[in-house]
Amino acid sequence: MGVSTPSGAPASALIVHAHPEPSSFNTAQARTACASLEAQGYTVEFIDLYAQQWSPVLDRGEFPPFEGPFKPQREQWNAAKSGSLAADVRTDLDAVFRANLLVLSFPLWWFSLPAILKGWVDRVFAMGAVSGGDLGLFDEAALAGRRAVALMTTGGSADSFTEDGTFGDINEFLFHIHRGMLEFVGYDVLEPIITYGPAHVDDVRRARALDDVRHAFSNLDSRPMVKTSRSRTPLTAR
Ligand SMILES: Cc1cc2nc3c(=O)[nH]c(=O)nc-3n(C[C@H](O)[C@H](O)[C@H](O)COP(=O)(O)O)c2cc1C
Repeated sequence: MGVSTPSGAPASALIVHAHPEPSSFNTAQARTACASLEAQGYTVEFIDLYAQQWSPVLDRGEFPPFEGPFKPQREQWNAAKSGSLAADVRTDLDAVFRANLLVLSFPLWWFSLPAILKGWVDRVFAMGAVSGGDLGLFDEAALAGRRAVALMTTGGSADSFTEDGTFGDINEFLFHIHRGMLEFVGYDVLEPIITYGPAHVDDVRRARALDDVRHAFSNLDSRPMVKTSRSRTPLTAR
């Protein structure tokens, strides 16, 4: 029997995965997360962006023809309201709305997301479909009441991602993802699940790291939320 969320809705998850190599540790980690959620009774959908050759480029070609300059958010708004979003965007948006947990699975690239996943956010989190105007932002946005979590690998070690480490506090530079993308459209964001430097350890340590991922996904209900700016005054929708 499937598990349910505190609101009573059946537990469902969407994993959006962005690693170009099917045999990578990062992909194994995403598959482990999927299996762990399914074992708990979640219905899980898995979008493998590289395998699907998902187009990350937001441009005027994805919208019905129009005259004049291209204003991306205006066209997203018009398309969302008139039901003319591009088919690939609509498909993934429907998957986003079916899920009460969103997992963004990716390797840390340049302290951020791989471009293919950033482009997925650019296109799928369309103005007028998930936030903005009548939908509002942050707690008022369309995905409020759902949870999201980043599932990541890094090249650097855990020590290098502390406040005094070589790269600095990881939560500081994940802020643009946590606050700027996920909370922006309404999600409650859990602390990221990170395997540090899987390329620099042996198979035993990598297997242990997959166990940690399995364990983390079995205990999402006790996972703290990220410390971003939930306490800040919410912006008023324009
Ligand atoms: C374009 C690119 C940028 C990267 N930037 C970072 C970075 O900013 N910080 C970091 O720790 N690792 C960085 N890495 C290393 C990857 O995060 C790392 O190789 C990966 O997470 C390891 O998982 P995998 O072996 O499954 O690919 C980068 C790798 C690439 C290809």
